[in-house]
Amino acid sequence: MSLKLAPLATDWGMALHAVALARGINSTLHTPAHPPSPTRTLFVRLQQKAPEAGRAWALKHIRKGGKSVQGEHDLVLYENRTRQMELLRDWMPHGHVVRSMDQAEEVIAELGLPIVSKAPWGSSSKTVRLLTTKRDAIAEAEKVLHGGGITFPGWPPQHGACLWQKFLPGNEYSLRVARISKRWGWAFKVMNRPHDWRASGSGLCVPLTADDWESPYFRYAINTAALAAAVMSSRWVGFDLLMDRETEQWRIVDTTLAWNLKPGLLGANYDAPVYDLNTFEPHPKGLTGASQWDLLLDDLLEAA
Ligand SMILES: Nc1ncnc2c1ncn2[C@@H]1O[C@H](COP(=O)(O)OP(=O)(O)O)[C@@H](O)[C@H]1O
Ligand SMILES: [Mg+2]
Repeated sequence: MSLKLAPLATDWGMALHAVALARGINSTLHTPAHPPSPTRTLFVRLQQKAPEAGRAWALKHIRKGGKSVQGEHDLVLYENRTRQMELLRDWMPHGHVVRSMDQAEEVIAELGLPIVSKAPWGSSSKTVRLLTTKRDAIAEAEKVLHGGGITFPGWPPQHGACLWQKFLPGNEYSLRVARISKRWGWAFKVMNRPHDWRASGSGLCVPLTADDWESPYFRYAINTAALAAAVMSSRWVGFDLLMDRETEQWRIVDTTLAWNLKPGLLGANYDAPVYDLNTFEPHPKGLTGASQWDLLLDDLLEAA
């Protein structure tokens, strides 16, 4: 067997490692202090609040020609919305990275109000807010660009750039499309938080039904995620999508290379039925997201 794995020793890496060993696959756990040989395939679930060491370790391996489950783009984009807005701009709601007060004035005029404002990192909607008046927007730009920055509990302060995006009204949920390989993945709705325009972190997750998977509306969403995944040259990635009701386009508002590992249907429920993302057929064995490790390992073995 030519597949040799090198998972980074975080929660997800250890879970993959255990399943790989149980299947007789050669796998060794690594820390950023211990680089693997280039013949090993990395699996890098970065630590959300301290991604830098793992990111640098993985990028070095990839740039030396080593293989990795997560591609260079996904690693660079993780918890880095500034780069997401640059690389994925064709797939995202119209928006700008604002770095000066003059630009702030222009962008407010261009996007109109309200404006969705985000920090480069965050989860559970904690760093995503709505600027409803020009005064709020200017005050925020002053703080972020020239003041003390904006602080969020548990995250570093936002300094130096405002990430401003067109608000897409009328959505009751955001759609999470998670993909394990070019073929297999799943999708579920994350319903909005109660009395809130934001979904992320609500814990209210509803898998797409068989009828949803048949419908052109959701097939369009899955195709949008697949095209953005291709831009990122990524086999394993997750996207959050919203409908832009003005242009009738699905738009990507967020990307992640990790999702909730909790068992059961809690939080960002990953245990939705697995589908072929190209043919929209359910997995012949009726697998769900909980089988992600076996799906991934089968895919890697096939490619090895
Ligand atoms: N441009 C937008 N227009 C309307 N709602 C948005 C927009 N961007 C994000 N949201 C809402 O805010 C929530 C959090 O945004 P997201 O970028 O996914 O951040 P997080 O990192 O917190 O998941 C999303 O689940 C979605 O409901
Ligand atoms: Mg999100």
